[in-house]
Amino acid sequence: MNDILVDSPFRQDVLKGLSSNPKYLLPKYFYDAKGDQLFQQIMGCPEYYLTRAEEEILRTQSRQIIQSCAGTNPMFDVIELGAGDASKTLYLLQEALRLRCSRQYYPIDISTGMVDYLDRMLPPILKGMQISGRAGEYFPMLEHIQAESPTAKLVVFLGATIGNMLPEEALGFLEQLRGLLQEGDYLLVGFDLKKNPQVILDAYNDKEGLTRDFNLNLLHRMNRELGADFKPNQFEHFPVYDPITGSCKSYLISLLAQQVTFDDTVIAFERDEPIYMEISQKYNEAEIQELAAKAGYEPVDAFFDSCHQFVDVLWRV
Ligand SMILES: C[S@@+](CC[C@H](N)C(=O)[O-])C[C@H]1O[C@@H](n2cnc3c(N)ncnc32)[C@H](O)[C@@H]1O
Repeated sequence: MNDILVDSPFRQDVLKGLSSNPKYLLPKYFYDAKGDQLFQQIMGCPEYYLTRAEEEILRTQSRQIIQSCAGTNPMFDVIELGAGDASKTLYLLQEALRLRCSRQYYPIDISTGMVDYLDRMLPPILKGMQISGRAGEYFPMLEHIQAESPTAKLVVFLGATIGNMLPEEALGFLEQLRGLLQEGDYLLVGFDLKKNPQVILDAYNDKEGLTRDFNLNLLHRMNRELGADFKPNQFEHFPVYDPITGSCKSYLISLLAQQVTFDDTVIAFERDEPIYMEISQKYNEAEIQELAAKAGYEPVDAFFDSCHQFVDVLWRV
């Protein structure tokens, strides 16, 4: 193994997580090229209602969202945290162009592949909009952008990615984000709402096994990039949902006592031992209001889909 990999943050985070009790892995590492591809498939699968619900919101209500921001900021840059394929954001950007409110879009994503894709795909579709993709972590990229452009901002954080944090982590994240924005900037955040528990559980346990493969892909990724020797067929995807706390958690369960080697480090798994992979936190409206208040944002509006499954909230700094 070369020195770059030995010192890579990926390797360090993985060894820290797998040496902890209970074991965990960080969801930001799901998104290599294969993970991106699986996530695109998950978004299209019948059980994963989240993308369809948010797509409906942005397809039908982007004009109102942009008009709300334009009321106080006639011109603003759009920054997206974790843009993915930006297919839903396209509605917002088209409306911002139509209303002549924005000419600059900065999609930030940890996946270099997705950012390259957006830099290539968007300019012909969004004529008049400058596309400046940034591959990297949310906050360092946002700091660079803020240093470059003094224009007012609309920051968008879609897809219920905020749900990949525990509520207290989400609060810390939103506070840190507020510290990087200017007074009067806007934030549009997508939250998945609490609903029938079975509907939620099914979204993370689709019949085709895409979410299972998405989780197991991280084991394959560690084999490919860190020289580990996981046998992914000896782990099982296990999602659970607690309708009281609203937390949907995914685990990989070791089906037998086994050892996995990373170069000179050996990680032992007991039979039935879980690795905590990801949280997808669900909220109700009161909890979202409370989060805005605690994190220091002023709620401006809330945009729901017609089945009330999902909400994009617009807050002002
Ligand atoms: C749940 S997906 C949502 C994608 C898109 N916003 C949507 O709604 O379809 C999360 C996205 O955030 C990116 N991401 C995850 N952690 C990140 C981090 N720490 N910094 C930057 N991007 C991150 C992933 O690569 C992925 O594209």
